[in-house]
Amino acid sequence: MLSYTSINNKYPAEQVAFAERVKKYNITELGKTPKACVITYGCQQNVSDSQRLKGMLILMGYEICEEENKADFIIFNTCAVRGHAEDRVWGNVGATKSLKKVNPKLIVAVCGCMVQQQSVADRFRESYPYVDIVFGTQVFHRLPEFIYKRITGGKRVYELSLENREIVEDIPIDRENRFKGYIPIMYGCDNFCSYCIVPYVRGRERSRDANEIVCEAKRMVDEGYKEIMLLGQNVNSYGKGNDDGINFAKLIRMINDIEGDFRIRFMTSHPKDLTEELIFAIRDCQKVERHLHLPFQSGNDRVLKVMNRRYSREKYLSLIELAKKEIPDISFTSDIIVGFPGETYEEFKDTLSLVEKVEYSSLFTFIYSPREGTPAATMPDPISRAEKGKWFDELLRTQDKISKRLNKEAVGKTVRVLFEEESPEEGYIIGKSSGTYNIYVSADKSLIGSFAEVKITEYKNVLYGTLI
Ligand code: SAH
Ligand code: SF4
Ligand code: F3S
Repeated sequence: MLSYTSINNKYPAEQVAFAERVKKYNITELGKTPKACVITYGCQQNVSDSQRLKGMLILMGYEICEEENKADFIIFNTCAVRGHAEDRVWGNVGATKSLKKVNPKLIVAVCGCMVQQQSVADRFRESYPYVDIVFGTQVFHRLPEFIYKRITGGKRVYELSLENREIVEDIPIDRENRFKGYIPIMYGCDNFCSYCIVPYVRGRERSRDANEIVCEAKRMVDEGYKEIMLLGQNVNSYGKGNDDGINFAKLIRMINDIEGDFRIRFMTSHPKDLTEELIFAIRDCQKVERHLHLPFQSGNDRVLKVMNRRYSREKYLSLIELAKKEIPDISFTSDIIVGFPGETYEEFKDTLSLVEKVEYSSLFTFIYSPREGTPAATMPDPISRAEKGKWFDELLRTQDKISKRLNKEAVGKTVRVLFEEESPEEGYIIGKSSGTYNIYVSADKSLIGSFAEVKITEYKNVLYGTLI
C-alpha cells in the first residue's frame, strides 16, 4: 500500500509527471498491469530505500511481485560492505540475461551502494549490456524519470553523482508492514573507518529536518504503527550541519512526546557520538527501547586506532558502565570485525575479553573483507583466512555461552512484547521485548501487531512465555 511521509508533498512534481507518463506508456505498450520485482541486499538503510523504490513503482502503476520471471521491471538494490554481498549481485544480475530472451521488454536496473564504486559502474557498462539503468544512492527519487527515458527508447541510463546534499522529502513509500516501520533520519557517513566503503558510496552526512521526521512519526502513529525504527549509518550524530540545534537526544525526546502507544528503536549508534545527554534521554523516554546497538569492532586499542574508530577500549567500557547504571534493564548488541589487517591473536583476545565483560545479548560478527579504495585494503594482512576462521569460531562459541546464560536468567521475568510474526513452531507467535528477547507464546495470530505483557516461563533453545 502506498503512503506518503508527510502532508507537505515535496516529492518533485516533475517526477510525478514522469510517473504518469510511464503508467500511460505501459498500458498502451504492454496492454496489462506491469509487474515489478525489487531485490534488496545490505542493511536496513537499503531496505528502507527499497520501500521507497516500491512506492515510486506503485505510483507508476506497477504491481509489486516476488518472482523475477514474472516481472516487467527488475531492480537490484545493492550493498558493497563486504565482498560476499557483491559476489551474489554479479551472479543474480547475470541471470537476467536469459529472462530478457523470454521477455524482450523486460527492463533491468541496478542501484545502491555497489554501483557507486567507479570500477563496478564501469563493469556494468562494459560487460552487462542488458542492464538498462544504473543509478547511485543519492538520486534514487528520480526512478520515474530513469524508467521513462529508457522505455521511450533512450540510451542506457547512468546517473551516479554523489554531490546531492539536498534531501528529497515525501517520496511515496510502500512500508510493507502494518505495525513496524523505518524512518531514515540521516544519510551518509563522515567517519572513514579505515576498512569501510560506506563513506565513499553514501557520501557525506546529511540530516533531515526535525519537523519532517516528527511529522512522519506522527503520521505513522496515527496509521496504527507500533514500532518506529530511526535509521542512520551514524544515527546519533543526527543534526550535525542543521542549524536548529536539535541533536539526536533532543529528537528522540520530541518523538517520545508524540501521543500514542508505540515503541522507538534506532540504529546504528557510534560510540564516539554516544553522549551523556543521549543516555539520559534514553533513560527518560519510556517509549524508547531499553537497548543499544553499539558496535565496538575490536577490543584492542592499537587495532581501534588503525581502524580510525576514535575511541579507546576504556572509553567504550565507561559508556557501557554509564548506560548500565542509568538504565538498569538495558541490553546491548554489537558489530565485530575479526582479522583486521595486522591483528594478532593476542589482540583478538582483547575482543573476546570485551565481549565477556559487556555481556551482549547477541552479536553481528564479520571476517575482515578488503574493500578497494579504503586505507585498510593496502595494509599488510599476513594472517590466513583459515586462521581467521578459527578465531571467528572462538568468538561465536564465547558469545553463544553468554547468550545462553542471559536467556536462562530471563526465565521468570515479566516483559512487554510486541507480537511480530508466526513462529516456525505451529501454534506459537513470536513477541519481541524492548530489549532483545524473542519469546514464543502460544496465542492466536490475531495478536500479531499488538503489545502484551508476557511472563517468560522456559528456555529450551528459544524462550517460551505465557500471556498475562
Ligand atoms: N555505521 C555502522 C556500521 C555500518 S556497516 C557503524 O559504524 O557501526 C555494518 C558493519 O559491517 C560494521 O559495523 C562492521 O562491523 C562491518 N564491516 C564494515 N566494513 C567491513 C569490512 N571491510 N569487512 C568486514 N566487515 C565490515
Ligand atoms: Fe563505516 Fe565507520 Fe561509517 Fe560505520 S562509522 S559506516 S563502520 S565508516
Ligand atoms: Fe551495504 Fe550500503 Fe548498507 S554498503 S551495509 S547497503 S549503507
